[in-house]
Amino acid sequence: SEENRDQWGSRFGFILAAIGSAVGLGNIWRFPYMTYENGGGAFLIPYFFALLTAGIPLLILEMGLGHKMRGSAPLSFRKIKEKYETLGWWSVLITFVVTVYYSVIVAWAINFMSYSFNQVWGATPNKFFFKEYLQMTSFWNIGGIRFNILAGLALVWGLNGFILYNGIKEGIEKAAKIFMPILALLVVLITIRGVTLPGAINGLNHFLKPDFSVLLNPNVWVSAYGQVFFTLSLGFGIMIAYASYLPKKEDVVNNAFITAFANSGFSFLAGLGIFGVLGYMAQAKGIPFKEVATDGIGLAFIAFPKAINMLPGMQGFFGFLFFLCLTIAGISSTMSLVESFSSSVIDKFQIKRKQAIALVCGLGFLASTIFATGMGLVVLDVVDHFILNYGLVIVGLIESIILGYFWDLSEIKDHVNQVSDFKVGNWWIIAIKYVTAIILGVMSVMKLKNELASLYNGYPLSAIITLGWGTVFGLVILAYVTKNISWNQEIKVDVLKEE
Ligand code: PHE
Ligand code: NA
Repeated sequence: SEENRDQWGSRFGFILAAIGSAVGLGNIWRFPYMTYENGGGAFLIPYFFALLTAGIPLLILEMGLGHKMRGSAPLSFRKIKEKYETLGWWSVLITFVVTVYYSVIVAWAINFMSYSFNQVWGATPNKFFFKEYLQMTSFWNIGGIRFNILAGLALVWGLNGFILYNGIKEGIEKAAKIFMPILALLVVLITIRGVTLPGAINGLNHFLKPDFSVLLNPNVWVSAYGQVFFTLSLGFGIMIAYASYLPKKEDVVNNAFITAFANSGFSFLAGLGIFGVLGYMAQAKGIPFKEVATDGIGLAFIAFPKAINMLPGMQGFFGFLFFLCLTIAGISSTMSLVESFSSSVIDKFQIKRKQAIALVCGLGFLASTIFATGMGLVVLDVVDHFILNYGLVIVGLIESIILGYFWDLSEIKDHVNQVSDFKVGNWWIIAIKYVTAIILGVMSVMKLKNELASLYNGYPLSAIITLGWGTVFGLVILAYVTKNISWNQEIKVDVLKEE
């Protein structure tokens, strides 16, 4: 019954865990570069616009839904209408797949933490990363198993398992209380180091100098909305699950705003630090800034190692701090990913948390071993592209349509207003029904058009069909099948409906 549902020990613990989920690799390696590419400081206008008109409203929706329905995504959607349970499963199955490859990036960061001390990558970080470290092959050529990566993966899944095994209050909340202050400190240290390097000002100038002409470019606005969804961990069922563990009389609206703004703060600080370092590197090498500017895997595992080589003093230590920062940001995000899927399994099959966690983490580890092979990176690239651009965007779109048009959103509005200090008005309903739904609809069409025009990254059609579309549609089928398995305790579901 309800009394058995795990709960957060404090509001602060919940907020830290929600921020822990939100702050991830995206804040560190995606936001800064995206800002630079899309008009510098001027990008902050579409970014905050997207945050206020879609990100925060959807965050309130997901938190409000989980809080009211007291369940993971499949259970919460089922309580609205039985058939919507499929959407819940689709979303958390996507989450599981994301965890499987997100964990490998964290494993790399763990490896690179130790590589930093004596800069194992030598003078050629590029060659080191692809050839020596990943021993990268192409599609359908497995190559060898990389044991260092495997060890990193075992650590990531083991740590996740250990934390989640202990439950919400004793596990996630305790871990968040340790991780988040350390993460904040690391980001501040990296920022201070970054902005005080010679030449940093040149990097910061590229990061923030506004080019207002981009405001006329619709692609920039769509990118801003995309970044906001990803950065707030929306559509993954995470915020639904996390909020389902909040005590009944707990504020939702305030918590959503705090989470969103703290997440933006991390992004902004990380941007200063990273662009400071890149500016230094451009000056030290005497090359144009655009030759050092990069994002994603290339930034973390190639450009940063290069920068670390060139730092004036304490190179190894700075490298260690940077990869530790990625590791902690990554673990606090994978925790939430694993919890979203596990809580769904616990709700549906009524198995014990400890069994569910052992099962999910065991399976997850096994599945992630594919990414420790030579073709790990290309598989990761395709799966990530399709899952984020189609799976996730479509989940968000269907979520806003179902809840906005086939249900009465004022049920959530009334619920959150009852428990929160800040009340949401009709602007919130407009934001979900019109802004979110329309933008996500436009985004899907735009992406699909590109997709059909050419094969993603020039990969073979066989890979695009099986690993790309196959994953997206395979998960829909699996979601539907799972929905049709009967609930282990039908009565419990009915009782909880009377919220
Ligand atoms: N919000 C995270 C980021 O910005 C990404 C993420 C999404 C992490 C979903 C966990 C779950 O990096
Ligand atoms: Na984020």
